[in-house]
Amino acid sequence: MASANRCSTSYLIFGASLREGSLNNRLASLAASVVEEKGGTVDRVQMSDFDCPSYNGDVETGTGIPRGADRFRFKLISNDAFIIASPEYNASMPGVLKNVIDWVSRYRPQPLKGKAGLLMSASPSMAGGNRGLWSLRVPFEHLGARLYPDMFSLAQAHEAFAPDGKIADAKLQHWFESTLDCFIDAVEAVKHYPMMKTQWIEFLGEHPTPATERVETSLVPKA
Ligand code: FNR
Repeated sequence: MASANRCSTSYLIFGASLREGSLNNRLASLAASVVEEKGGTVDRVQMSDFDCPSYNGDVETGTGIPRGADRFRFKLISNDAFIIASPEYNASMPGVLKNVIDWVSRYRPQPLKGKAGLLMSASPSMAGGNRGLWSLRVPFEHLGARLYPDMFSLAQAHEAFAPDGKIADAKLQHWFESTLDCFIDAVEAVKHYPMMKTQWIEFLGEHPTPATERVETSLVPKA
């Protein structure tokens, strides 16, 4: 439930499509305007800002992590949460998004750990690209992002927007705004009322040896 006295929170928002006229970019823009209306600070960026060559361990060893991934890392650590509107390609996530997730996962500290996120999608199909979001949850959850349980998928998105950029169906627009409202409350709680201790262990249950151990433990400072 939205509170009139929310503490400040900031949001990295983008559509994970490189296409001009992208439906997901339109949904991301709508999310940005709703978040701003509800008192959040918005950092609205484009997928092209994070463009990277295909992940290659030799490139990483030779010239390091590319600038697109560095920009993604910087935007993640500079904001309290992220909101991504992602297309569904072949019942999964776009390769361009998975590629930058793979690159950014190479940083230590790993910047997705503990980061709050909300996933949404838009597609001309009847399912609105929702299957793609389930696949996208896997790498984000693996990396310790705190993904919001609800997701928003706009079906028949090619004819769903009104000229003012809102969703033409008033009830759907209301659900969209309610989802964002509840997400903002969750982000506020994570930022301003944190647990005392967080930890991220990449492979839970694996026999702990120095060669394989990938553990990060940190104390969360009091707000
Ligand atoms: C698609 N599209 C698509 N849509 C869907 O709902 N389920 C799917 O599995 C796929 N698969 C798929 C594969 C590829 C290679 C392309 C190019 C497209 C259609 C897709 O949802 C549609 O083109 C969206 O408009 C893409 O998002 P943007 O660019 O409008 O944000």
